[in-house]
Amino acid sequence: MPQDDIAQLTINMPDKGANILSQSVLEELAGQLDGLEKRKDLAGLIICSGKPGMFIAGADLREFAASLDAPKEDVVAICRRGQTLFSRLSNCPFVTVVAIDGICVGGGAELAIWCDRRIMSDNEKTEFGFPEVKLGLFPGWGGTVRAPRIVGLSNALEMITGGESIDPKIAATMGLTSDVVPADRLLDAAVDMIRAEKSSGEYLRDRDRWSKPIESNETELGFLGITASAYIQQQTKGQYPAPMAALEVMMESACVDAEQALQMEAEGMAQLFGSPVNAALLNVFFLQDRIKKDRGVDRKDVQPLAITSVGVIGAGIMGAGIAAANIKRRMPVVLTDAAPESLNKGAQNVLEEVAFDRKTKSANAERAIQFGPLLNISVAEAANAELATTDVVIEAVVENANVKKKIFAELEPHLHERTILASNTSTIPITGLAKDLKHPERFCGIHFFNPVRRMKLVEVIRGEKTSDETVVTAVAYAKQIGKLPIVVNDGPGFLVNRLLFPYMNESVELLCEGAAIKDIERVAKKFGMPMGPIELFDMVGLDTAVYAGRTMVEAFPDRFVASPVLPSLLKSGRLGQKSGAGFYSYDNRKKRPEPDPKLPGLIEIYMREPKQEFTHEQIEQCLFFPMLLEATRALEDNIVRDARDVDFGLIFGLGFPPFKGGLLHWADTIGAAKIVEMLKPYEELGERMKPTNLLQEMAKTGKKFYD
Ligand code: NAI
Repeated sequence: MPQDDIAQLTINMPDKGANILSQSVLEELAGQLDGLEKRKDLAGLIICSGKPGMFIAGADLREFAASLDAPKEDVVAICRRGQTLFSRLSNCPFVTVVAIDGICVGGGAELAIWCDRRIMSDNEKTEFGFPEVKLGLFPGWGGTVRAPRIVGLSNALEMITGGESIDPKIAATMGLTSDVVPADRLLDAAVDMIRAEKSSGEYLRDRDRWSKPIESNETELGFLGITASAYIQQQTKGQYPAPMAALEVMMESACVDAEQALQMEAEGMAQLFGSPVNAALLNVFFLQDRIKKDRGVDRKDVQPLAITSVGVIGAGIMGAGIAAANIKRRMPVVLTDAAPESLNKGAQNVLEEVAFDRKTKSANAERAIQFGPLLNISVAEAANAELATTDVVIEAVVENANVKKKIFAELEPHLHERTILASNTSTIPITGLAKDLKHPERFCGIHFFNPVRRMKLVEVIRGEKTSDETVVTAVAYAKQIGKLPIVVNDGPGFLVNRLLFPYMNESVELLCEGAAIKDIERVAKKFGMPMGPIELFDMVGLDTAVYAGRTMVEAFPDRFVASPVLPSLLKSGRLGQKSGAGFYSYDNRKKRPEPDPKLPGLIEIYMREPKQEFTHEQIEQCLFFPMLLEATRALEDNIVRDARDVDFGLIFGLGFPPFKGGLLHWADTIGAAKIVEMLKPYEELGERMKPTNLLQEMAKTGKKFYD
């Protein structure tokens, strides 16, 4: 206790890296307040954390997940209980101050906002936010009521509907925190704050003010509502209901007193809690949590090797992206390419990317000076000697096994005995690529996704002879540069491309059967994909798609067809975005995809007669069921160590819509029996639409992927 008349509550969950507001922590808080409220000798209470750099990371989401089926009235009651508990902090017979060092989000931010005053440390880890919308919810313990009363409706709307955290500086400008001080001064500053408040009585006036409706006129409110709603609609495309629900409840409850507003918050929260989007987003949270902790192998006794430099062979779309991703995490890179002009262009792309400042949306000289020297380029002849100095070498040249093998054969004798050699191949099995290597145990796939700067996923592919040490090192390395790796077993297309291929292939089939490109793209985007499959072809590159397609067709001829459309477009020099034309034309200032009047003439001979009409549902089923069926085959082939990796891989590698929780989570919401039924009209398409043994078994037993 800092002084006799000041109490201190320190939150510190034993054996945990983060403080979480679980039921038992809330009960303990209630018990502590029972005792403190009775004390007549106290001038104030300071709430802080026992963990430096970590205040409270939020509520216990596992407890949330366990009660997703709770009836609405129970959810209202849970919210009301939390509100009642926290609101005691704004009614104590003394001043309550929260001293925040480190992350303070979700339920933690709500606890803090119920205190009379907040003080934050200037630690760079300190952040304050309401991320509930990212889980399909909004704050339910008073956040939507207190925040607008303290920082103003406009600021609170931005924080709550956007879900992004703010730093102490912004918190101070908003009036959310009364002071920002170094972490070791937090407690002293809190004591000073209590003394000052006690003598001015300001906190009592605020308690009164914050219990009333928000002072605002109707025109102001109307304007705020319209602009916020238009912005949210544009951001969420109607697929994430929580931000709009938060906006509605906050607008309505602005004009009533706090007590009534709290009831409205609880009722609004009950509408979202347990909804399909809430369940899906919670699933995504747990998928991510699992991958963050996963080391890639089950054995505990293997340790990753240290990675301090990286070599990248091939300076094309992927090589340049991989090099930039490393450099942005301060990892020195040697970049090589067989063609000097490609190397120059690639290096220029890397430098542009690392110098780009996301905040100002322009090149930043400081970043260029900081990151530029980390890039070392080397032409092919001198390259092997340079690459030999690095800890991991990632090959990203054309998708051709012979070209890749030749590179490995020439490079391997130069490598240090602990250097890991990896391929970024999107489809070619790793075991085959490693066949002639002297050290296949140090070889694996490290497969990045396009565009590397945006896609978090990396597939670490284990060949037959890849060692556990290589796998844990590759996993740790991927995390070191900010990626989220899954470990998959070897096989054509590994996991994500094996599932992507049928989806993209089917889009070309639909096109040839008579569906319009704009309809195919619209259905995919409506489903939640970040772009349509036809545009994706152009982004991947039609050459890469053709090579990759060959591998897949050779491996699975029973269900994959090699459409002649892609090679024919390639022949006319259309490589996709990178060449200025593919299915679309990119001949405009912003290099955006535009319908190309030349396309129909180029693909006319591949169109089948008579043209078919497709409904929205049919296009959706034709795109996503082949993907799902392939996922069940990948599960049968043990490509993943855990079924959850399928959903994780698709969300973070392809941008499969998080609000659907992943492909298998989505399939579970429909149910295997119903899917088998829905596949019946497509029987004549053969294997590619035929229910697999696994799906049929699930249909019979009622089993789910997530059981
Ligand atoms: P790209 O065509 O943009 O670049 C390939 C680069 O490799 C070119 O700069 C070329 O000059 C260079 N190159 C060719 N032969 C070489 C050799 N013998 N030695 C050194 N450099 C050589 O290709 P992209 O798209 O970057 O693909 C590279 C690899 O990454 C492929 O294996 C591809 O399957 C894989 N990949 C591609 C993705 C995509 O979306 N494009 C996604 C994930 C993986």
